[in-house]
Amino acid sequence: MLIKEIELITLDTGTLAPHLTEDDLKNGMPGAMEALGSLIKGEGAGSDMLGWMVLPRLPPRDIEEILDVGKRIQDQSDCLVVVGIGGSYLGARAGIEALKKHAPFPVLFAGNSLSPEYHADLLDYLEGKRFSICAISKSGTTTEPAIAFRLLRNRLIETCGREDCNARIVAITDPVKGALRQMAGTEGWKIFPISPDVGGRFSVLSPVGLLPFAAAGIPIDALVGGACSGLDRWTRKEPGNEALRYALSRALLHDKGIEIEVLSTFHPELSWVCEWWKQLAGESEGKEGKGLYPASTVMTTDLHSLGQLLQEGSRKILETFLISARPNRDIDIPGDGEDLDGLNYIAGKSLSEVNRKAYEGTKAAHVSGGLPAMTLKLEGIDPSSIGALFIFFELAIAVSGRLIGVNPFDQPGVEEYKTRMFKLLGKPGY
Ligand code: PA5
Repeated sequence: MLIKEIELITLDTGTLAPHLTEDDLKNGMPGAMEALGSLIKGEGAGSDMLGWMVLPRLPPRDIEEILDVGKRIQDQSDCLVVVGIGGSYLGARAGIEALKKHAPFPVLFAGNSLSPEYHADLLDYLEGKRFSICAISKSGTTTEPAIAFRLLRNRLIETCGREDCNARIVAITDPVKGALRQMAGTEGWKIFPISPDVGGRFSVLSPVGLLPFAAAGIPIDALVGGACSGLDRWTRKEPGNEALRYALSRALLHDKGIEIEVLSTFHPELSWVCEWWKQLAGESEGKEGKGLYPASTVMTTDLHSLGQLLQEGSRKILETFLISARPNRDIDIPGDGEDLDGLNYIAGKSLSEVNRKAYEGTKAAHVSGGLPAMTLKLEGIDPSSIGALFIFFELAIAVSGRLIGVNPFDQPGVEEYKTRMFKLLGKPGY
């Protein structure tokens, strides 16, 4: 299903000036196009990790298979527990939180921390419930999800026996290696392979995100359709390409000394999209002493906590607003005869209109306070827009990573803590 994505996402860079002008963008555009061209040709640093660029063009039979397994999970369970961390967690969480109204089937998450409280509470909650597990780990050996999976699987075996337990587990992992892959083969669990050329933070449009979405009830054909349209548009080497303009703006401001990018949304349901984006941007660009530190705010909540800093604090911040043009639901503010709360001046207006004015006012205030700002506007918060947003950010961050001169597809730094933790825990070989 190809969606007219031209209306799905727009980018307004008009409020980047005077920090970044239209001429700066014009002058930098050939470099951005070259970076995009090298990705399309499969060249440059990390060229063996570009499998994510073809994910939206999933064959219909693969979508059917994912939908079938999602349906089976719904039929045989009261809820699904998705086990995973980092790139094997955040995309699924982001999509399900953003599209809650399209996701009636309960999906819970585990293995994204080592919190004993969280996991004990989860096991309590699952008491007496029929649940299925979707274990996601590309390596199949990551400590946090491995522990959660062991706890949950033990519970399933205790409550329904090994055979029934095996029918309730889906493993999404490397096609050949890793502990999860070996266990899945031995026990006969349903397996969806993660292609070795797709990194965790670029995997949301593979079964890593699509199976949890399908189980939740999200129409994945519409989501993939949005991503496909986005891929079609944002791989065009033309100056109006919004993903290129966003990538270039970030990279040029990085080179001018901006250190932090704050993604500010006025829609709380997008807060997990911001979390997913933080990993995508931070892990892709944060190396060799480079990279914008990705932060996020949820407005208007954070205007009452971080608003002061954004208005008058460090000026090494770029603010990118993430807004939706259309609410899924709306509500009018009622009039009141006495007007004791003084709100009658907005009586009859919708809450979405007030929220939009809050965004416009905030942007104007922060820009007048000296922050460069731009706005990404979604047509709505629906499956096709969210699919388009995923591929938009993936393409843009891949380009900006290349522009600032790093390999956007590796993450050598994340091993450091593991080595020290394993030594402290006495893991054999450390
Ligand atoms: O993006 C990444 O590569 C990481 O965030 C991984 O997804 C995360 O460490 C989990 O790894 P794995 O999927 O191997 O369990």
